[in-house]
Amino acid sequence: MLTEEQIDLIRDSAGQLAELNIAATNTFYANLFKTAPEVRTLFPEDMFEQSEKLWQSIVMVVESADDLVEIQDALKALGARHVGYGAKPEHYVVVTNVLIETIAVLMQDTWTEDHRQAWEAALKAVCVVMLEGASTHAA
Ligand code: HEM
Repeated sequence: MLTEEQIDLIRDSAGQLAELNIAATNTFYANLFKTAPEVRTLFPEDMFEQSEKLWQSIVMVVESADDLVEIQDALKALGARHVGYGAKPEHYVVVTNVLIETIAVLMQDTWTEDHRQAWEAALKAVCVVMLEGASTHAA
C-alpha cells in the first residue's frame, strides 16, 4: 500500500519524465540490454512500438498508484501474456531496478531517496500481481 506522499512523489516525477517520453524509454531499453543482454532476443528488432507501450504502462501505473486494486485484473492478464514473451520471474527485479535507475538519472537534481522508495513500492506491487498472473497461466 502506497502512502499519499509516495503517490504524490510518483506523479511529480512522472510529470517531469513526460517531457522526455521517448528519450526516457530509449534510455531505459539501452540500460536494460546493457545490464541483461540475454533478454535482448525476447524483444523485436525494431523497438519503436515497444517504447510507446512501456510509456503507456508507466502512465497506467502512475494514474492508478492510489488504487492498484483497480488494475489488478489487467496486471494479471499482462503477467500471463509475459510468460509467452519469455519473461522469467528473475527478470522482473532487473526491469524494476533498471527502470528506477533510469528515472533517477533522468530526473537529475530533483531525484530524492523518497522518490526511490515510492517507485520501488509501486513497481514491487505491480510485479507481484503480474507474477501472480504469470504463475496462474503456467499452471
Ligand atoms: C514492470 C513490469 C512490466 C510491465 C508493466 C510491462 C509492460 C509491457 C507491456 C504493456 C507490453 C505490451 C504487450 C502487452 O500488453 O501484452 C509488454 C511487452 C513485452 N514485455 Fe513487458 N512489462 C514488464 C516487465 C517485463 C519483463 C520483466 C520482461 C522480461 C525481460 C518483459 C519483456 C517483454 C517482452 C519481450 C514484450 C513483447 C515485445 C514484443 O514482442 O512486442 N517485460 N510489456
